[in-house]
Amino acid sequence: MCGIVGAIAKQNVVPVLLEGLLRLEYRGYDSAGLVVSDGKLLRLRTTGRVAELGKLSTDRHAKGLVGIAHTRWATHGEPSKRNAHPHFSGESSKVAVVHNGIIENHESMRLRLESEGFVFLSDTDTEVIAHLIAFHLQNKPDLLDAVCTSIAELQGAYAIAVMQESHPDRFIVARNGAPLLLGVGEEGNYAASDASALLQVTKQMIYLEEGDVAELSSDGYRIFNCTDGKIDKEVVRKVHQSALTNEAIDLGPYAHFMQKEIFEQPSAVANTLEMVFNAQSISPNLFGDAAESIFSQIDSILILACGTSYHAGSVARYWLETVAGLPCNVEIASEYRYRDPIANPNTLVVGISQSGETADTLAALKYAKSLGHRHSLSICNVAESALIRQTDLCFLTRAGPEIGVASTKAFTTQLASLLLLTITLAKMRSKLSHDRECEMIAALRHLPVALQLALQVEPQVKVWAKRFAAKRHALFLGRGVHYPIAMEGALKLKEISYIHAEAYAAGELKHGPLALVDSDMPIVAIAPNDVLLGKLKSNLQEVNARGGELYVFADADSQIQQSNNVHIIRLAEHAGVLSPILHTIPLQLLAYHVSLQKGTDVDKPRNLAKAVTVE
Ligand code: F6R
Repeated sequence: MCGIVGAIAKQNVVPVLLEGLLRLEYRGYDSAGLVVSDGKLLRLRTTGRVAELGKLSTDRHAKGLVGIAHTRWATHGEPSKRNAHPHFSGESSKVAVVHNGIIENHESMRLRLESEGFVFLSDTDTEVIAHLIAFHLQNKPDLLDAVCTSIAELQGAYAIAVMQESHPDRFIVARNGAPLLLGVGEEGNYAASDASALLQVTKQMIYLEEGDVAELSSDGYRIFNCTDGKIDKEVVRKVHQSALTNEAIDLGPYAHFMQKEIFEQPSAVANTLEMVFNAQSISPNLFGDAAESIFSQIDSILILACGTSYHAGSVARYWLETVAGLPCNVEIASEYRYRDPIANPNTLVVGISQSGETADTLAALKYAKSLGHRHSLSICNVAESALIRQTDLCFLTRAGPEIGVASTKAFTTQLASLLLLTITLAKMRSKLSHDRECEMIAALRHLPVALQLALQVEPQVKVWAKRFAAKRHALFLGRGVHYPIAMEGALKLKEISYIHAEAYAAGELKHGPLALVDSDMPIVAIAPNDVLLGKLKSNLQEVNARGGELYVFADADSQIQQSNNVHIIRLAEHAGVLSPILHTIPLQLLAYHVSLQKGTDVDKPRNLAKAVTVE
């Protein structure tokens, strides 16, 4: 989604703005722009990449001690130079605005501002903000005041940065429902959508809270609370030392972030599980101080998530039911938030999100609470995210920054965390003997090594990828706890290779999708050596008998034979309860290598964004 960078310093900020935008490229965008002040505002915009904006900056000798910059992921209005941010308003007192989020009342605001004589030059909701601020500047000449008054009239989610031609000594930012943080540097002060954009200049970060408005100058910053359009009081927010390192967000020896992140999975999972590696038993405190008390009150689980995180929740349902004996519902957050579900105050609501900023997941959790759910837990990869602040309990997946749009290491670390939750709850409900708990901890300890072994199938997967690259459709089949893994495999393939891929529970095949099967339809099957293997083999026979070409990921000991139309790649071992985690790896590799074959943009697939901060 859109990315914001703002900077004010004692030297030219253009390099900082450009580097910041480059670091935010992973979020997904279709145009980019910046404005700097060197006495006058100079605005540059392009529908090209950030590199193109850099070239424009050089050609136009852009420089200034203050500036704001933006990558736009189009929501209102097509991707075009005219719709790219920053947007301007005002003649005598020109203001420039960049914005992330959606202004829901933009249509009525537009009509009102047009009637006041403002002329709109774009189709965006953002231009409303620029004109609204310019409108209020007519009566309140101070930019901070005008921003406070304006945001009180905006409905929706936003993070904004605003500067004014006549006052190049500061810029203003505000957040409500979209991420924004400040960077406190020695040579200046900064703002950005996430910390990775600012590591180049500082590690001192302040995570703004909902409703915060901040004024930044080269010497300092002040943060305010605004009530009813007026500055209420100055507030103090904690300065965090970011633990992010430049190496964590650099490609290193890899060609793509997705490749790097696939191969980082053994260490990402090891980091996530570090605190249980030396333990003989798992303590509820891993999920927060109040976990023991909350876990002892619950009688069911409700998981809310989107996309890949939803698939992680769908795997966890099988674990929670089978191992912990707990009823579990898994809901797509964007659906749940508009249903009328019946709340059970003894349910633990679990929000799963890599970014912790997904608008639908945040809204669904809020909605669950409003319905009467009392207990919540987040499983998230970003320590300072909105999700973590919204729940009573939390567990941090320590995957490190995930830059590739297609989620990989976040997924496997979510699964590892959900298995820890399952073990904890099973123990507290007397469903797990101490011996079985020890066995499961031992299996978790072995997981990083097992993941390393699973990655070794890459050369065989590459051979398959060549065949898939020519296909237009693919089916993915799995049963039981591996059905969500089939869903995840199909999602990975479609999002980065643009091959239409669908996943089915293998038993559903003959209820419809079998009609699609012919010699041109590759069918990927996840075939671990578990209790459902016999059933799955019957489903695969049904495909085989109709001329379908099967690509089967089996375990070393799965009794399933290669033949003319049945190709098999075997994982080194059957991993019992951990099997879904390991079977994810070859599917990620398949999607990655098919995408390479097709020459698509692996890390930034078309139309997609990393953190989906709008509805
Ligand atoms: C797919 C993918 C998305 C995300 C989804 C939720 O590879 O990355 O489906 O999983 O947008 O994002 P988070 O987990 O950040 O809430």
